[in-house]
Formats: sequence, structure tokens, C-alpha cells
Amino acid sequence: MPDPLTTHGELDEALTLAVDAARAYLAGLDERPLHDGDPDRAAARLRTPLPEDGDGAPAALRALVEDGLDGSVASAGPRCFHFVTGGVTPAALAADWLASTLDQNTAAWVESPLGAELERLALDWLTDLFRLPGDWGGVLTTGATMANFVGLAAARTWWGDRHGVDVAEQGLAGLPPVPVLTSGHLHSSAAKALGMLGIGRANVHRLACDAVGTLDSDALVRALAALDGAPAILVANAGEVNAGHFDPIAEMADLAERHGSWLHVDGAFGLFARTAPAAAAHAEGIERAQSVISDGHKWLNVPYDCGFAFVRDRSLLPRVFGATAAYLPPVDFERPNFAYLGPEGSRRARSLAVWATLRAYGRNGVRAMVERHLALAQRIADRVDQAPDLERLADVPLNIVCFRYRPPNIGEDALDDLNASLGEAVLADGRVFVGTTLYGGRVAFRPAIVNWRTREQDVDLLVDVIRELGARLNPA
Ligand SMILES: Cc1ncc(COP(=O)(O)O)c(C=O)c1O
Repeated sequence: MPDPLTTHGELDEALTLAVDAARAYLAGLDERPLHDGDPDRAAARLRTPLPEDGDGAPAALRALVEDGLDGSVASAGPRCFHFVTGGVTPAALAADWLASTLDQNTAAWVESPLGAELERLALDWLTDLFRLPGDWGGVLTTGATMANFVGLAAARTWWGDRHGVDVAEQGLAGLPPVPVLTSGHLHSSAAKALGMLGIGRANVHRLACDAVGTLDSDALVRALAALDGAPAILVANAGEVNAGHFDPIAEMADLAERHGSWLHVDGAFGLFARTAPAAAAHAEGIERAQSVISDGHKWLNVPYDCGFAFVRDRSLLPRVFGATAAYLPPVDFERPNFAYLGPEGSRRARSLAVWATLRAYGRNGVRAMVERHLALAQRIADRVDQAPDLERLADVPLNIVCFRYRPPNIGEDALDDLNASLGEAVLADGRVFVGTTLYGGRVAFRPAIVNWRTREQDVDLLVDVIRELGARLNPA
């Protein structure tokens, strides 16, 4: 009867199986289709009853490699333009393997001085990379959803203080609704975070002046004036998911300062605009916010899951996330216990991958990748503009191109259904992966480019596949 102690001699074989499978997978990843066409087959092969007696680590690994890998999506590859899906740099991948090997818990400094010091250093480097003030606090999270949660939790604490209430201690009962003001670009994860924080999704005022969500600046001015000095939380969106639009962040920073409001910026991928001079103007003013967030597993290309939250006043974080018990260490910013700065207690050492990729490629490596992606997005836009059967729906400020299939022989009223069916056909085809959205009420494709592996031939294939399958669905 195998148990890990009696069979721990199998470790070497299990690791060798994993390394060999990883090498083979990664060697073919650039050309690999996104899926094998039958998402249920691998699951069916793996679905067995719980073994009474296992058959050991090598057999388990062999089953995973032989029966399981086909069920994965090649989302780490260069042709995944769906959602906003980053890949994994070689440095980040290898460091992440070590993070699992060392199995560090970066809750308390004492449990992993390595993980904590690298988290502090990685956050310092990131504030430098994003040109944020060096004295801000920060924490790594599981992604932008939880980073939004952290930034908005700090905002809630500040807002409670303005009403004389420590919300983390006493709750929100008896307080007025928290006014949250933003544009129509607000990401669903920020609304989710506001729900989790008890602020409530319904208290979000989306002030948009058009169907695509552009901020109605006059409405924002009026809403702030109507508050008559009462504190509000402004959420600015740096890079929204449909077309990569930015809110006018500097203008929102002016208003926040004038009205004594909190400015939170969701830059899940848009914060990276600050690494590339050609795009940086969109993200000016972010340095004046009170809280700013971004993702690691998107444009930094570290493995899932990883996000970052930065807060101007770091002392707010332990007031929400601190925990006390006789066996726990106290809050300490010199030897940080990161469990007190974010929602999780025990936490994976995701700092190793973040640090390793920044150490390996540096500021210029990140900038080169971002600039390459900006150029690839323009290449898609050019090809869309030249194609008689494609229509671009938005400018391309960053790395997302919003367009639809529009053959000349079809009327406006049939286009949404055609593009929705085409979207399904593209996903089923599997040569490229790209999602559809509603842009100003119209069904559209929205490829997002954030993977370091993506090359010109990959974005060309994306356009070719959409046109080929479109013509098949709608013969002339
Ligand atoms: C602007 C924005 N904010 C937040 C998120 C949520 O990110 P995550 O999935 O890492 O939690 C996303 C994800 O696409 C996003 O684009």
C-alpha cells in the first residue's frame, strides 16, 4: 500500500516524468492548437473512483501526462487572444517550480524570509517599473480581482474614518451608502470586490456619456458637487477589456484632490502602458491615486495566480487584514508579515516568479515586450482596415483590437448573429482562441495581446482564421 513516506524513493521518477512532459509540451507550444477538439475526452479518461490503494507517484504522473494533458487549453501559447491571457516566461516558470519545491508559506516573515524579502523587493521593483511613488505599500494577491479587493478595502477604511467609524471593527451598519463613482468601463471584478466589501454593487454609479462606457466628466463633476464635501471613492479604469480604453485619469485625479475623494485605479493590464513611452500618456495621473492595482499573470507573464495591489497609505492594510492570536507574530513593516496586508492567511511564494522575471529581463525587457505587443495590435488593426469583410469598431490605444466580421452581402440586423456564430466557430476550430463581446451593443471580437511568445504570424493567422470561417458561414 503506497504512502508518500514508504514510497518516497519514487520522487526522482515522478519529477523526471514531469520535466520530460513539460519539455515536450513547451517545445511544441508555439504551433500547438488551442485544444484537441474534444474537451470531455480527457476528463472522461481521468474520472475514476477514489482509489482504495493508490498505484504510486509515477503511475499518477503518467496518467496525468498521457490521459490529462489533452484536456488542457494551450493558453500559455502565442495564439491565445481570449480574455486577457498572459503566458509564462522561462525565468518565471523555473522560479515557480522552485516555489512549489520549497513550499514556502509567505504568511509570516519568520516562515519564509526568502519569500517575504523577495515579495518586498519585487513590489519595490514594480513600483519603480510603473513609476509609482517609492514609499507606497503593496502586496501580492491571487489576481486583479483580489487586488481590487485590497485597494477598495483600504478605500473603505479611509471612508469609514471620515465618518468616525472603524469599519473593519464595527461594520457598515448605520452608515450612509458609500458613494462609488466611475465610468461605464468598470470591470466586473471591481463590482464583485465592492460586493464582497459590503459596499454593494448597487452603490456604484457608472457615469457614462455613450454606449461604450466613456466617462461623463460633467456628470462626475455634478455628482461630486452634490455630495457637498462628503467623501467618495472614485474608480478609474486604466485599460478596459473591450478595446483597451482608458478613463481620463489625470482629470479624475484633479477632481479627487479637489473634493477630498479617494482615487482607485484598476490597471489590471493597462498599468503596463507606463512601461512604454508610446502608450504612457494614457496612464498619466495614476501616480496621484490612493490605490492602484495590476495583474502579474497577464502582461508580466508570470504563472497563475498573481496580482499586485499598491496603496499610498500602507497603514490602512493591517487595519483590514491584520489578525491577532497568541501564536501569531505582530504587524511589522520591517520584516513584513504579508498575511496582514492582504486577504489570504497562508500564501504561496508567488514572489519568486515575479522577482525572477524582473531580474531576468529587467525594465527594458518588459518595455520591449509591451512595445512589441502594441505593434502587433496595430498590425491587426491595419489588416482589419484593409479587409473588405472586416470592420474595426474602436481606436487601438493599447493591445486590444475591437472589430467584427462584416461581409458586404449582409445587413446590419443580421451581423450580431453572424458574429456570435463565428465566435463559436473560431473557438471550436482551435487554431486561434479569441472571445467576443458586446461593444456599444454590437457583437465584436476583441483579441488581447499579452503573451511574450506572440509573433506576427500568430496575429496574421488570427485574422485569416476569422475571415476563412466567416466566409464558410456566410458564402458570397
Ligand atoms: C481591467 C481588469 N480588472 C480586473 C480583472 C480581473 O482580473 P483577475 O482575473 O486576475 O482577477 C481583469 C481581468 O481580465 C481586467 O481586465
